[in-house]
Amino acid sequence: MIYSKIIGTGSYLPKKILTNKDLEASLDTSDDWITSRTGIKERHIADPNENTSDLAYEASLEAIKSANIDASDIDLIILATTTPDKVFPSTACTVQSKLNISCPAFDIQAVCTGFIYALSIADKFMKTNAAKNVLVIGADRMSSITDYTDRTNAILWGDGAGAVILSASKDPGILSTHIHADGKHENLLHVPRNKKEKGKSDAIEMQGNQVFKFAVNTLDQIVDETLLANNLSKSDIDWVVPHQANIRILEATAKKLEMSMSKVIVTIDRHGNTSAASIPLAMDEGVKSGKIQPNQTILMEAFGGGFTWGSALIKY
Ligand code: COA
Repeated sequence: MIYSKIIGTGSYLPKKILTNKDLEASLDTSDDWITSRTGIKERHIADPNENTSDLAYEASLEAIKSANIDASDIDLIILATTTPDKVFPSTACTVQSKLNISCPAFDIQAVCTGFIYALSIADKFMKTNAAKNVLVIGADRMSSITDYTDRTNAILWGDGAGAVILSASKDPGILSTHIHADGKHENLLHVPRNKKEKGKSDAIEMQGNQVFKFAVNTLDQIVDETLLANNLSKSDIDWVVPHQANIRILEATAKKLEMSMSKVIVTIDRHGNTSAASIPLAMDEGVKSGKIQPNQTILMEAFGGGFTWGSALIKY
């Protein structure tokens, strides 16, 4: 049996920080409202000349270093993003060029569930002997598709990138992945193409409270599905590394798992929702802080536009 084992993690956050207080100056909102409804205090915002591939490249360098491999050992790059540098080529190809290596590289698009989709695909390559060292990246520059005059969205989103190196191993690594989609709800959370309309640019449109309810329900189901598939019980999970959309969604998942919030890696207060980047950013923080230790069982879960949702159960 071949497993995909995480042997390195890395992350990158742009330097500029946008606080709730900063947003109070330009929007009809308040630090109290944002904190109590979302758990967010601040988020990182990329410079205009900083592309998604730049964020992804920095996170990748860290992941490669922590895995103690050469970049040339990587034989596949999968990058999850909703905010590619260009329509084409894929941002994964741009990162491959920056790393100066030669291997297949492609993007996948599943919005906030993107990193789980990417892990799932990488694991299939590994299990069929098609790759031995895979660089899996989640990177997003959500500020580039956020309308900062829309208070529902401006408060939520942030920029960043996280990366992991997966390596073929006989020791347990990824135990299972579960991915889902239901395209019927596309209009509840989407970025329509507005560019043809004068003065309008592509920006996120969201029915926040409806998205919230759907997210809590589907994440409840994915927890059950993941535990059942692995014949595990709630108490077998050491850490939840969730997509960071809203602290109240994270609390609902912890409650479902009958788990203390101290067992959930939380970055939303400082990162906001960084879409595909949020899980690998949280994973890197969990590892670097010493919270996540070898041989522990990690549940990653996410929900996002599409709707898409999914999970990965990992022996770290
Ligand atoms: N500041 C102050 N008031 C705000 C506000 C803001 N930034 N945004 C919305 N409001 C107002 C609304 O206009 C509404 O006012 P009204 O009652 O006078 O009509 C009121 O607050 C309640 O709006 P509602 O949308 O019901 O709030 P909510 O508790 O659902 O919180 C979200 C809004 C967006 C924070 C919340 O729905 C959410 O996080 N949803 C999930 C979104 C998400 O995670 N999307 C990505 C998934 S990956």
